[in-house]
Amino acid sequence: MPSLLTRYTPALGHRHPHHRRRNTLEYSIRPISPEEAPAFFQCHGAAFSHDFQPDLLPHTLSYAELDRTGSVWDGGQVVGTTGVWSFEMTVPGATLPCAGVTWVSVRPTHRRRGILTAMMRSKLEHIRDRGEPIAMLWASEAPIYARFGYGLATEGVELRIERTRTALAHPVSAPGTVRFVSRDEALSAWPAVYDRVRPGIPGMHSRSTAWWEHRVFREPEFPAPGFSSSFFVQYEEAGQVLGYVRYRVRETEEDGSATSTLTIRELMAATRSAYAALWQFVFGVDLIGTIKAEWRRADEPLYHMLADPRRLVRRPTDTVFCRIMDPGAALSGRRYATEGAVVIEVTDAFAPWAAGRFLLEGGPAGAICAATTREPDITLSSTELGAIFLGGTRLAPLWHAGRVSGTPEAIARADAMFGWHTLPWAPEIW
Ligand SMILES: CC(C)(COP(=O)(O)OP(=O)(O)OC[C@H]1O[C@@H](n2cnc3c(N)ncnc32)[C@H](O)[C@@H]1OP(=O)(O)O)[C@@H](O)C(=O)NCCC(=O)NCCS
Repeated sequence: MPSLLTRYTPALGHRHPHHRRRNTLEYSIRPISPEEAPAFFQCHGAAFSHDFQPDLLPHTLSYAELDRTGSVWDGGQVVGTTGVWSFEMTVPGATLPCAGVTWVSVRPTHRRRGILTAMMRSKLEHIRDRGEPIAMLWASEAPIYARFGYGLATEGVELRIERTRTALAHPVSAPGTVRFVSRDEALSAWPAVYDRVRPGIPGMHSRSTAWWEHRVFREPEFPAPGFSSSFFVQYEEAGQVLGYVRYRVRETEEDGSATSTLTIRELMAATRSAYAALWQFVFGVDLIGTIKAEWRRADEPLYHMLADPRRLVRRPTDTVFCRIMDPGAALSGRRYATEGAVVIEVTDAFAPWAAGRFLLEGGPAGAICAATTREPDITLSSTELGAIFLGGTRLAPLWHAGRVSGTPEAIARADAMFGWHTLPWAPEIW
């Protein structure tokens, strides 16, 4: 594996008056050892204004990939952090190895000196050298990552339902049953449900056993005042678990009436019956005024199941950004909604090694993509290519927005190819 100990001397480019850039910037970027984890997470905590919680470290270290971290030091202090998860990611019609970039932070004392830029460059080269054709991340702020070639590929939706003013339009008569289970039972049965759903939905990533135990199911020892711990509920038919919901409740009341909020942490269903039965269960929990769920699907079927769908308030939000590391491998690694061929010119100011001109010939059964010298039909940067890669963000609106060039005919052809019958969904922030 290539060493991550990389020195960078970023070129002096455009300067903003608020920037405190030095004339020469040199940063050593290297992975951390387990002993250095506290210093690493202290930096991450300071950047996000979160308390560093030493008691969480053993959980984090149980699934962390320390050899894929990057740290920048100033004296004995970490001032910049990054990490990567080695995911298997669902893309339209297939799965691909994917670097899930995480833990990006720069200490407030060291911001706007180019440390993030140096870490991003080092990280991209590391991912490229590992041969992962795509990288993805969740952004704390939407404007940060386009300059590094990440495009917004997935939208999530925050749901808020006024439970007392709507209900499922029709009672559900599912063949199975819904029951409460212990955390341990959930831990043994739910990963199989998740893995049954995952291959069909672009944007869903693989989870290791340690990830399930120490991340998905990690609960604070004491819930925050007013909040319950998680409840674990599953749907099963003839002993087979086909769906689950994990939720917690914040108890409130107004003028003597309960107005509590039920927040869904995750609801996953492998079948339509499981989906309907679980939502029917959620609506049936008493003393709840509001049901909430974050990062649900942009095309959440629940909307079409409610007596009064207007009571389902949906707030769209950007979730996963995608970065194409290797256009040939990435574009031939997914499938396409329609049969077609298109020559794509990819530009890349940040990582010129990811640029090139490619002939993509693809369809529902597979695709090939190779470098070509033919005239391009469409020209776009890595950022836009990343945005359309999962089939959620469409090429045509990007063209209308002036971010892609090509003839209307070529855009329509490529747009039809790059779309997908299932919108991408990233159910978990990483
Ligand atoms: C976001 C953060 C990592 C930026 O680090 P940094 O070292 O200050 O970034 P750089 O100096 O390399 O800046 C690179 C460019 O991005 C821009 N940029 C940086 N942060 C930005 C932000 N939050 N919004 C918009 N632009 C931003 C800079 O202005 C600079 O632009 P330029 O190249 O035109 O001069 C840092 O401010 C931070 O840790 N913030 C809090 C934690 C966080 O949000 N982390 C990201 C998690 S996804």
